[in-house]
Amino acid sequence: MRSKIAGIGYYVPERVVTNDELTKVMDTTDEWIQERTGIKERRYGRKHEETTATMAAIATRTACERAGITPEDIDFIVFATLSPDYYFPGCGVLMQRELGITHKEVGALDIRNQCSGFLYALSVADQFVKTGTYKNVLVVGSEMHSMGLDFSTRGRNVTVIFGDGAGAAVIQPSDDPDRGILATKLHADGTYAEKLAFINPGCHGGYHFKKLGEDADFGYPPANTYGEIFLTPHMMEHGQYYPNMEGQFVFKLAVQKFPEVIREALDAAGLKTSDIKLLIPHQANLRISQFVQRQLGLSDDQVWNNIQRFGNTTAASVPIALCEAWEAGKVKDGDLVCLAAFGSGFTWASALIRW
Ligand code: COA
Repeated sequence: MRSKIAGIGYYVPERVVTNDELTKVMDTTDEWIQERTGIKERRYGRKHEETTATMAAIATRTACERAGITPEDIDFIVFATLSPDYYFPGCGVLMQRELGITHKEVGALDIRNQCSGFLYALSVADQFVKTGTYKNVLVVGSEMHSMGLDFSTRGRNVTVIFGDGAGAAVIQPSDDPDRGILATKLHADGTYAEKLAFINPGCHGGYHFKKLGEDADFGYPPANTYGEIFLTPHMMEHGQYYPNMEGQFVFKLAVQKFPEVIREALDAAGLKTSDIKLLIPHQANLRISQFVQRQLGLSDDQVWNNIQRFGNTTAASVPIALCEAWEAGKVKDGDLVCLAAFGSGFTWASALIRW
């Protein structure tokens, strides 16, 4: 048995934030951002009103409607995000409550695989559906980055890239054995975990830095005392509770891993790059997508990019882009669609879908 995407939806907040708007709070320029990343604008959610879980609920309602089901019909939830509403519990249960389906007590699994999160979630859903365990698995990627970024010049290399949004898909059994999810490939390598990371607040206590031989002062009290390990006043004072990224390091690995994992999925399905009708890459940087496009010999028409309008929405970026492409009529029955992502961890993944 194969599984298929029976319905897909997305939601982005109304508020458009242009590059020029960011120049008011940090030392950056529209020219720098566009040239290095391709981004012109991104969306930010309404503070105190919208959250990662509420945006996901909106995208879910659309996905359910398009799949011809109601949220009540969902058998299992797989939720991917790196910007959860709470440290715990995860967004899966919060979205379940938001949708008003807690009485059904369906399982909710939270996935922490950053930019590859949606593809990891899709693969989990694929296994549940293929084995006949569930009939309507909801897969969600949602991010409210704007609540946790450093809007000073110190954080500019990270902050200008990210935006808010959500995407959701309903995964069901496919009635046609030749159509649906043909292959998913998942990878991870934690060697460079800190190169793109959001490490505080956390329970690491400086351990990994010591082991890596790196100097890092988080202002910890002596080891024989209690408390103040998770979030210290020193971390607050020195802005050590924001995401950090070594951009060029990430870039170099991304352009290597994207083509690799795409080719791996094609091999597994016995297909070639020329069979791909549309590639939906994770929207990390327009230059990364263009590099991957060249590597695979695809035309502009075969790659969907929307980073210009939404920035990088991490776990939400693949489903938002896929949904947009589908709405634009670029994904038709029988088309071979390839999804691919690379991100923090590092983790990377791909999926091939015969639509
Ligand atoms: N505005 C203006 N200048 C900026 C800036 C900003 N927003 N951010 C960084 N700079 C400056 C740096 O301080 C540096 O200045 P210096 O040369 O005086 O030290 C200069 O620009 C170059 O920085 P660098 O980091 O080398 O730029 P880059 O060309 O690598 O572009 C990224 C930066 C982040 C856009 C790019 O590395 C990238 O996209 N990497 C991959 C990121 C990614 O994919 N992340 C998500 C994975 S899911």
